Amino acid sequence: MYRSRPKGSLHKDMLDFLSSIGDDQEVFIYDLLGSQAHVLMLNDIGLMAYNETKAILTTLDRLKHHPNILDTQNAEDIHEAIESTVIKQIGMEIGGKMQIGRSRNDQVILDILMKVRDDINVICDSLIILLQSLLEKADENVNTVMPLYTHLRQAQIGSYSHFIVSYVDSLLRDMERLYTCYGRINRSPLGAGAVGGSRIMLDRVKTAKLLGFSSVIENSIDATSSRDVVIEYASNLAMIMLTLSRMTEDFIIWSSDEFAFIEISDEYSSSSSSMPQKKNPDPLELLRGKAGQVLGDLFAMTSIIKSIPSGYSRDLQELKPTIWHIASTTNQSLKVLTYIVKTITVNKGRMLEASNNSYALSFDIAELLSVKYGIAFRTAHKIMGLLVQRAVLKNKQPLRMLSKEDVRKVLEKTGCTVNAEDVSNDIKGMTPNLSISSRQSAGSPNPQQVQTRVKLLRARVFKYKEQISARKNSVSEAFQMLSLRVKKYSGNDVSGIR
Ligand code: ARG
Repeated sequence: MYRSRPKGSLHKDMLDFLSSIGDDQEVFIYDLLGSQAHVLMLNDIGLMAYNETKAILTTLDRLKHHPNILDTQNAEDIHEAIESTVIKQIGMEIGGKMQIGRSRNDQVILDILMKVRDDINVICDSLIILLQSLLEKADENVNTVMPLYTHLRQAQIGSYSHFIVSYVDSLLRDMERLYTCYGRINRSPLGAGAVGGSRIMLDRVKTAKLLGFSSVIENSIDATSSRDVVIEYASNLAMIMLTLSRMTEDFIIWSSDEFAFIEISDEYSSSSSSMPQKKNPDPLELLRGKAGQVLGDLFAMTSIIKSIPSGYSRDLQELKPTIWHIASTTNQSLKVLTYIVKTITVNKGRMLEASNNSYALSFDIAELLSVKYGIAFRTAHKIMGLLVQRAVLKNKQPLRMLSKEDVRKVLEKTGCTVNAEDVSNDIKGMTPNLSISSRQSAGSPNPQQVQTRVKLLRARVFKYKEQISARKNSVSEAFQMLSLRVKKYSGNDVSGIR
């Protein structure tokens, strides 16, 4: 339809190569809404007569309810398909007026931003549900002791709840990033035209308002050329996937036969074709793999936009499939992880057993010795290191099994004059539960602290839930208003037409 300068029609193979019609299905509805807003605005500024507005809006509304009448043949994209369908239905004289003051270049980015805006809300909702499920688990497990790891070696004693809260904190940062990014996404590029605006006094604020945007992207070059906010959005999603992939990895390790700290429910586990005993964490592994895909998408996106000159270039079309893919993958992953978190069995006994026998208690005892007897921490560290050495030599027995004699020898070796019996009692008395309940520093696994934190985090998640729902309402209210205005033209009710 657009071909004036190039002669004849586009070669069929070239059309296939050029066309984005497949990827555009995702933005069909947004492109229609954008067209409705544009036409209404043209009417309001006196550039389109009532009968013209009515004819175009009626056709667009018909298209909205009967997408099968969309003529996609020979169309390079959804913008062309919609315009040519309108022209086909009501003729060039009126239908051909729809595109005045507009270009595909402001349409492309308009559609993307409208979709991303909705997707952010959908993903935030999924994130909220995951956060709530995690907090539920955290609430149930403040006294569930477990070893914490560094270098995947037992480090200190902690609790399952404290571990889960670490992910809640991290995911809440992901949420915060996505939440603020929405503010930058929610600005309308419509009316920027091809690159340099229009001689028509387009009411950009009006179209922005009709489509539920909070403001407009001011500069017409910036509006049509920049994709930074989309990259920002994509990197926020990639960050979520990075968080999820770490959590996934923890769950995979902990559900292994050797750890058996948790058990993934049967419903979310796979089996093996050959080894009958197998219960594999395939969904978690896939999630880990999908994190890789999303990172790949982000890399593709940044590579596509790198060094494109200002003003629309067709390279930008290639962003679309990655934008859609990154959103659907992240959302699906959040949902899958929520199912898994909700149905995980926490094997408290196994975690306690591992903690009871863990040399990770050494750290608490070293701190206790240095605080209680005024010994330098370095000396206390040495004492505990030597005691662990002895315990390991004795068939890896737990520290509490060491004799008073063992303790005496080590104290002597380090030149420490504290009474061996006292130290021996301190060692025997150090249980995993005492270890976490005597942790005082802020953010530690102390059960009371974690309990308070869980409450606070619940409130924060709830606040996000309210804010997201307010955002969704404000978009859908705008769409309802738009639809009411359209109906005044396309339906029988013409009473309120301005
Ligand atoms: N289908 C294209 C896209 O999705 C829109 C074409 C925009 N304009 C142009 N001058 N070729 O990006």
